[in-house]
Amino acid sequence: MATRMLVTDLDGTLVRHDLAGPDPGLGRLLAALPALRRDALLVYATGRTMAQARRLQAERGFPEPDVWVTEVGASIAYATGGCDLAWDAHIAKAWHRATVERTCDAEPALVRQPEEAMGVFKLAYRLPPAAAAALLPGLGARLRALGVPVRLIYSSQRDLDVVPAAAGKGNAVAYLLRRYGIPLGRVLTCGDSANDRDMLSLGGPAVVVGNALEELVGGPLPATVYWARGGGPDGILEALAHYGWLAAPAVRTA
Ligand code: GLC
Ligand code: MG
Repeated sequence: MATRMLVTDLDGTLVRHDLAGPDPGLGRLLAALPALRRDALLVYATGRTMAQARRLQAERGFPEPDVWVTEVGASIAYATGGCDLAWDAHIAKAWHRATVERTCDAEPALVRQPEEAMGVFKLAYRLPPAAAAALLPGLGARLRALGVPVRLIYSSQRDLDVVPAAAGKGNAVAYLLRRYGIPLGRVLTCGDSANDRDMLSLGGPAVVVGNALEELVGGPLPATVYWARGGGPDGILEALAHYGWLAAPAVRTA
């Protein structure tokens, strides 16, 4: 029975896009996973939709997890049995997609991402950083006034995800911990950008990988967070050693 949960973001965390060739760190982490998975559930938490996540999985060859948290926590699916409909029902309570879509589409600074990036409970836009600070507080307040409290998740100085207020990676991970009866002290969340902030801030073990974006490094995070030197999977391995889940990694890379 699982007594721990390893939760990792995909882009920039499990999978690096800043290296020219294949990442030897990913090979090292994948080699360590089978032993870890004897008592740890493996969860991927990503901003991608399932179709987009599956494409990355096919490109990079990482294994099937126990649970997929996709669309920045707006969807949860299990290796053993499809989508979590109870989660859908929970986050659907105060969601009105058409209102969110109409309101966001009317903002000149917001450019729709491809339809493939959109979900039933997630709308995705591009937003230039220069326009973000002026737009986001007012947009959130307006949607709340229209009866649709949303979570606006701005990351990579480029992507704006709009999801129900009850969604987000942090809420989804907290829900999974309750569902499996795993205490907060026995999760490890791993991330690199602002859309990971809420799950890194749950108060349990967490790691910011060495190649994390300035937006995450520069913002507030609890003292429970471990700051890895290694990038991507090497940073995860370092944290697994730091928290005593694995022996110290033999190789560390920047
Ligand atoms: C992924 C998704 C995109 C989202 C971004 C940030 O890149 O494809 O839709 O905006 O993550 O969560
Ligand atoms: Mg990321």
